[in-house]
Amino acid sequence: MTLRPALFLFCGFIYFFSSPVFSDPPELKQTAVASAHPMATSAGLEILQQGGNAFDAAIAVTATLAVVEPMGSGLGGGGFWLLHRASDGYQVMLDGREKAPAAATRDMYLGKSGHVIDGLSLNGALASAIPGVPAALVHLASHYGKLPLRESLQPAIRAAEKGFAVYPRYQKLLKFRQPHLNPAAKNIFLTDKNEVPVVGTKIIQKDLAASLRRLAIGQRDGFYKGETAEKLLTAVSKAGGIWTQEDLDNYQVVERAPVVGNYRGARIVSAALPSSGGIVLVEILNILSGFDLDALSEVERKQKIIEAMRLAYKDRAEFLGDSDFIQVDQKHLVSMAHADKLRSGITDKATPSDFLSESPLKEGQDTSHFSIIDDDGNRVSATLSINYPFGSAMVADGTGIVLNDEMDDFSASPGVENGYGLIGSSANAIEAGKRPLSSMSPSFIEKDGDVLVLGTPGGSRIITMVLIAALDFLHGRGELEDWLARGRFHHQYIPDVVQFEPGALSESEQSELSELGYELKERQSSYGNMHAVLFKAKSRDLNAASDPRWLGSAEVREKAAGE
Ligand code: GLY
Repeated sequence: MTLRPALFLFCGFIYFFSSPVFSDPPELKQTAVASAHPMATSAGLEILQQGGNAFDAAIAVTATLAVVEPMGSGLGGGGFWLLHRASDGYQVMLDGREKAPAAATRDMYLGKSGHVIDGLSLNGALASAIPGVPAALVHLASHYGKLPLRESLQPAIRAAEKGFAVYPRYQKLLKFRQPHLNPAAKNIFLTDKNEVPVVGTKIIQKDLAASLRRLAIGQRDGFYKGETAEKLLTAVSKAGGIWTQEDLDNYQVVERAPVVGNYRGARIVSAALPSSGGIVLVEILNILSGFDLDALSEVERKQKIIEAMRLAYKDRAEFLGDSDFIQVDQKHLVSMAHADKLRSGITDKATPSDFLSESPLKEGQDTSHFSIIDDDGNRVSATLSINYPFGSAMVADGTGIVLNDEMDDFSASPGVENGYGLIGSSANAIEAGKRPLSSMSPSFIEKDGDVLVLGTPGGSRIITMVLIAALDFLHGRGELEDWLARGRFHHQYIPDVVQFEPGALSESEQSELSELGYELKERQSSYGNMHAVLFKAKSRDLNAASDPRWLGSAEVREKAAGE
């Protein structure tokens, strides 16, 4: 059944479901920003210094990440911004997820014989959905920020004009997508000889600076109409895409009530549909809440977590999609009764997924995340994406904007795996104007007054990375830096395999889990790029950390005297 998209901007419904957390908002001595790149973190701090709040800083970080981490997110993509406003405890998820163009059809990636055409939903203009980031930035500035958009965008414009220095993660992901880059992308990101540039090479993006400036001046119309829109439409149409001016005009951000759960007294706040993140995270935690994890051996603990992951990802595959288009019984999925039933089927051994399938393990290094708490106690947890590294590998001529390939997050055909090996049902089938199901999981975990703001990129593994860090926090296993450094493991129902980072499972854990019936696959390299800020109620201190795997940066700034 198709439901009419329900745009319930600012309606009381959201207030009802997002009960305030602090009746007395905390006055903090510090502000903190953690993001995937030092220039993006600095951009956030600069805007806070200029009198902006966490929401203004979020605009600066989002836009600067678009410049300095062009493989992860950008103006041509989408994202979810989980917000907490300290003055009244209001919590909301800003949904800037991309939407399928009006000409998109259920079978658009299928060949004559009904098979999915390789690469069509991943590379080039047909893979791109209508971007949401620019509309979200305008919305953040006009509804939550203290500064005008043009001020919050300045650090990003400067970064695009002055350039950023090539770093190893950029090189790695550029190499991965090099074969698919269009000429405009090659011009910006490769050397004159069409090679991946060496570390330290300056990447200057004049066209992107101009696009950002048009957004700063023209607001929404500075992207979805006029010069930028014309250039986007020309480039997309020339490359075989199906966008129209009407698609751009019709794009709307939506404010949605976050998914809220409870784990042994702690409050879990995470992304709502069209992200599966919150539902799957809460479902896993509900299942695990029935086990005394602290009393189990390490391998027993991991075995229970793996089984809970499997069960929740099965529900993801079967039931989840854009709730503006399909009916999802979310209340049931996040209920303890459902978790009790699922938990009762868990034994001390592997429960094979209904059917087995093999898929190559994909990179999953796309997307980006940042976390912010300002000195008023406002918070932002935001995960942004253009899907695959460098999105569709296409830059629209004359804009510097990398176009997403978020259409691959739809289920091109029931049961057929997407780029992350995820399967889906008709719930996540392609439809005009629909948002593809996501795994992005920007989250707040609130426990005894302490608050952890966290999230990460990493495709289908996002939810289990957030889970593993959240469990560390909830069970007091080490400090913030340990939670981000912890070895990661993952099960997503199909394929019926436990993926893990090198070192995440010890030799003995590997052999014990194998004996219990698990197929294990050690990945060649680590994954994820988590950035988190922690508020400690007792000391009223902030702590911030970035994933030690990459070059992210986290900073806590003391409030200047008199502020
Ligand atoms: N494109 C990754 C996600 O939204 O889950």
